[in-house]
Amino acid sequence: MMSQTLGVLALLLLTLADCQVIRYGSEVETETTNYGPVTMVVDNLAEIAVNVSDGTTIQLEEKMNRTRLNIAGNIEVLTANAMAQLSDVIYETNQLVVSNPDCNPAWSLDELNENVTHQLGGCTDDLGSLLEDFRLQGQLALARVQEFVQQIAQLPVKCQMLGAAPLNALAPAGGSVCFINAMAEINLGMAQSMHNASLLLVQTHQTAEDQVELAQLCCAMVVQQIGDYLREEQDQCRQS
Ligand SMILES: *[C@@H]1O[C@H](CO)[C@@H](O)[C@H](O)[C@H]1NC(C)=O
Ligand SMILES: *[C@@H]1O[C@H](CO)[C@@H](O)[C@H](O)[C@H]1NC(C)=O
Ligand SMILES: *[C@@H]1O[C@H](CO)[C@@H](O)[C@H](O)[C@H]1NC(C)=O
Ligand SMILES: *[C@@H]1O[C@H](CO)[C@@H](O)[C@H](O)[C@H]1NC(C)=O
Repeated sequence: MMSQTLGVLALLLLTLADCQVIRYGSEVETETTNYGPVTMVVDNLAEIAVNVSDGTTIQLEEKMNRTRLNIAGNIEVLTANAMAQLSDVIYETNQLVVSNPDCNPAWSLDELNENVTHQLGGCTDDLGSLLEDFRLQGQLALARVQEFVQQIAQLPVKCQMLGAAPLNALAPAGGSVCFINAMAEINLGMAQSMHNASLLLVQTHQTAEDQVELAQLCCAMVVQQIGDYLREEQDQCRQS
């Protein structure tokens, strides 16, 4: 994704640089009469660059959205799986208790549900924090990339203002020199911000994978512990 953008931007710079060479080589004296076409080239190139960058930004946002949904989905599935694994033994035990008033258990169904919910919530706490951190950092990283797209969009106006100073015979050339230089700088910043965003995605994926594994173990332990507890309660109930 990134290399494709960089390629297109580099191509734009080369195109403009070529125009520049031709202009300097053969047309310096007639610069002022060609103001229009140069401006149109710059406008057009800026628009193409913005279009390409917008596409890249949307792809980045889609990836970030998928990552967020993925983590949130993992939290839900882990919790729902553990609940499903416990539901039978909870139901059985409750039936047994209800049909044997002598059992007098040391727990209530509500308390037990609350306990399980609380413990499973603890198991997915780290994933929840990761999700929240990523939501914030992802937004910042995306905003950083979008800032550079904005800067490209503003370039034609910005560079014409510099180049169109009255009495400046080289005005149009000044405008595209300004554009080339500014694009090179923006290109660098954009590459860096895309790199940062990719890094954030990669690191978040890796961390999420590790934490899903830990959360799975943690949930399995809760299921085991609550299951054991309830089976013991059932034994005691049957003996009473
Ligand atoms: C940029 O995108 C807009 C909207 O999608 C489109 O109308 C326009 O023709 C595109 N410009 C260039 C130079 O590709
Ligand atoms: C990403 O998600 C946000 C919030 O849910 C939504 O507003 C936005 O349109 C999504 N973007 C893409 C590119 O899917
Ligand atoms: C409820 O949770 C605590 C830990 O938070 C645990 O020590 C206790 O045994 C649990 N109760 C039951 C009935 O499993
Ligand atoms: C990229 O990340 C580095 C290190 O966190 C930071 O110093 C730099 O400003 C970031 N660059 C951009 C363009 O966001």
